[in-house]
This record gives sequence, structure tokens and C-alpha cells, in this order.
Amino acid sequence: MGKQKNKFYIRTYGCQMNKYDSEMIKTLLLEENFEEVPTAEEANYIFFNTCAVRENAEKRILGRLNSLKGLKKEKPDISISVLGCVAKHNKELINHPVVDFIAPPDSYRSLIKAIRTKNGKIVPENYCEQYSDIFTSPSNTSVYLSITRGCNHFCSYCIVPYLRNRLRSRPVEDILREAESLVNEGANEITLLGQNVNDYSYKGVNFPDILKKVSEIKGLKLLSFLTSHPADLPDKLFPVMAETPVVAKYLHLPIQSGSDKILAKMMRRYTNDYYINLIKRARALMPDLTLTTDIIVGFPGETEEDFKQTLKAVKLIRFDQAYMFAYSKREGTLASLFPDQIKDSEKKRRLQLLISTQNEITKEKAEELVEKEISVLTMANGRKGQKIGKSKSGKIIALPGVAKIGFEYIIKIYKINGWIPVGRIKKEADK
Ligand code: 5AD
Ligand code: SF4
Repeated sequence: MGKQKNKFYIRTYGCQMNKYDSEMIKTLLLEENFEEVPTAEEANYIFFNTCAVRENAEKRILGRLNSLKGLKKEKPDISISVLGCVAKHNKELINHPVVDFIAPPDSYRSLIKAIRTKNGKIVPENYCEQYSDIFTSPSNTSVYLSITRGCNHFCSYCIVPYLRNRLRSRPVEDILREAESLVNEGANEITLLGQNVNDYSYKGVNFPDILKKVSEIKGLKLLSFLTSHPADLPDKLFPVMAETPVVAKYLHLPIQSGSDKILAKMMRRYTNDYYINLIKRARALMPDLTLTTDIIVGFPGETEEDFKQTLKAVKLIRFDQAYMFAYSKREGTLASLFPDQIKDSEKKRRLQLLISTQNEITKEKAEELVEKEISVLTMANGRKGQKIGKSKSGKIIALPGVAKIGFEYIIKIYKINGWIPVGRIKKEADK
């Protein structure tokens, strides 16, 4: 009988970047003959890939670790590793009774050696790490592909640059090779990832150039990207998006605040007017653009007047959707030292008001689609026998069950369910 395989379970918390990193770690483990299992109880190696961007996310992970005390007692030989941002941020983890290995975001290549040799609790980081030669396999028809790691910005509230280190741009050839293999293995949509994709730069190739190059891969049906910092948006980006059919007319552009005073304290390096002008330019070139954003309320020193300016910006710009957060004080960031922190109850009040303002707009924007005919690519099985698709402007659309995954249809939107537009198939789109 052959030797039993090492079984691993991996759970991912947080952003798309973490989801991609988990795919990469899986690739490394599968190459080393490990086998993935669906629950922690079945595994001899447990990995938590963690997020530290807000305190809540970190607390959830600590809660999960505490819940494993019983399992660890019962099976002391299982190996539990905390990966990613909390691994780097939380200095107490070293003493946590269930944690065997602590692996920050730039240490994954050494992780397998560490868990095999049981050598050292903190896996050493490699600050130049690109994971460039690791090619993930599609777990889905819509996949992520990382083009940069780390971040060179130091927005005063954000812990990410301290945990994910400085920006590194992945070589063009490696991005194209991974993208091609993902498409050949069945991916229809690729989303290029970076903390700020606009900072991509490799031997004279900038972000619009790499976007164009990936868009030329045969068989790719939709190309998206996340995230863009408004201050670094290259002039060529909107024209390239507009003129390249496969590029989704979708832009996630975090505004963070509508107050110039708060934007300056956040060290965002743009003003509200600058942001609004960018959006005007984008919408002039791409009238169907889907625009989403991130907003923080209750940043230190945010007055009622500053908050009202954020509400005003939200009403003026009319985002299709927004990810809205109460400011969370992160130890080690500049803003954590600012004196005029806002009370939790006030942050909560502002967040609720912002959410209800934006929800109204999100609903109205979805309703504008009713009776419209659009082209949709079927991506996955949805609930209640429906299929889930994506429009050319990156909107999620519910389709009837007969729609075949990977096919493009012209559909007519006939109603909104929650905020999701629901369509009827008119015909298969011309290939
Ligand atoms: N508090 C609240 N929200 C934050 N974000 C980043 N850091 C913090 C923080 N300390 C939000 C920003 C960013 C998104 C990924 O998370 O809006 O764009
Ligand atoms: Fe954080 Fe700013 Fe970098 Fe985004 S651009 S990861 S908000 S520091």
C-alpha cells in the first residue's frame, strides 16, 4: 500500500488578493503531493489565510483559532498555520496554544519546508518575492491573476503596506503565460489584481500596456482589474478600456471621502474635484461604465460637515455600488496616532446613514436596466436553478437555468430581484 497523502484544509479571509494567494499556496501544496480536503477536521495541515485590514476581520480569525483548541487537544499532531496579514501583524500569535506556524504574505515558498521539517515557528519572508513562476489553475470560469504585490502608498489609515511590503511588478512574460494557461484550462474572465494596478511597471510596460497585451489572449471573453488608485490613473487607461472590446467597462475607484480636508489627512493625494473630473472623463468615453468605490466614515477629525460632503459626493457621483466601512484604528499606521478619534457610536450612525443613501442609489441604478437588452456571459450556477452571468460592464445578472456556462447571450432585463437584474434570453450572441 502507498504512503497516505498529507491532507490540507485552507480557509481564506479578506480580499481578492488573499483569494489569489490561497490559489497559489494550493498550487504549491498540490505540486508537493498534498491533497485538499473540505473540512478542518479531515486535515492534518490546516491553513488560515488571514486579513488584518480592519479590527473585526482580525477578531474573527482569533475566534476561529480559539475554537480549534479542542481539536488540537484531541489530535496534537495536526499542524495549524496562520498565513497572510494577521500572521505579520499580530505579535501575540507566537504564544497562541493552537498555532504551529506563522507565515507572512511574502514567505509562502518557505512555508512547505517549514511545516515538513517542523523547523521554526515564524516562516522567514523574502521581500523580493514575486511568486512569478507559480501558475494557478482555474477553480472557476472567473479567475484572479496577480500582476503586482505590495503597495508603495502609505494612506494614513491603512496597514497593508506594512504587511505586504513594497510594490513589485510581475514580469510581463509570466503574466501572459499564466493568463494563457488559465484560459486554455477553461477560464472565461480574468481579473488582474494589485493593491494599486496603476502602479504596474515592468521594463517600460505600464498598466494600460499589460491590459492590452492580456486582452489579446485568444479565447478570453472578459478582462477586469482591481484596484485603481485615483491619483495614479494613467492617461491612456480610459481610452484603452473604451477601445478594447474584451475589457469590462467596470471601474473600482476608491474615493474614501468626499471631504478634501479628510482626503489630505488620509494622504490620498487627490481632491474631490479631481476625482469627479476623472469620472466625467471615464463616463464620456464609456457611457455604460459600472462604477464602484470604497468609502470610510469616521476617520479621525471627520466633522459632521466633512461627513455631509461625503454624502453629497455619493449623491452627485451615483456609484453603482459602494463598499462602506467605519474607520478602524490599526496599530502601526499614522492615523492611529491622530488625536481626534471618533466615538464608535458616531461612526456607526454615519455608516448607517451612508449605507441607506447608497442603497437607494444602487437600487435606482439597477432599475435603470429594466427593459434594456444587453450582452451577458454566463459564469456559474446560481440559486434556485438560475445561472449567474456578467455583463460587458461587469454587472452581475441572473439568467434562466437553460443558459450554458461560458456562452454569451443577448438578454432583456425584465425585473430586479433585490439588487440583481434578472434577464430573459433573446438569442445567443454572435461569436
Ligand atoms: N479602517 C476602515 N477601512 C479601511 N480600509 C482600509 N483600511 C481601513 C481602516 N483602517 C478600507 C479602504 C480600502 C478597503 C480595501 O478597505 O476603504 O479601500
Ligand atoms: Fe492601503 Fe492606500 Fe495601498 Fe490601498 S493604496 S493598499 S488603501 S495604502
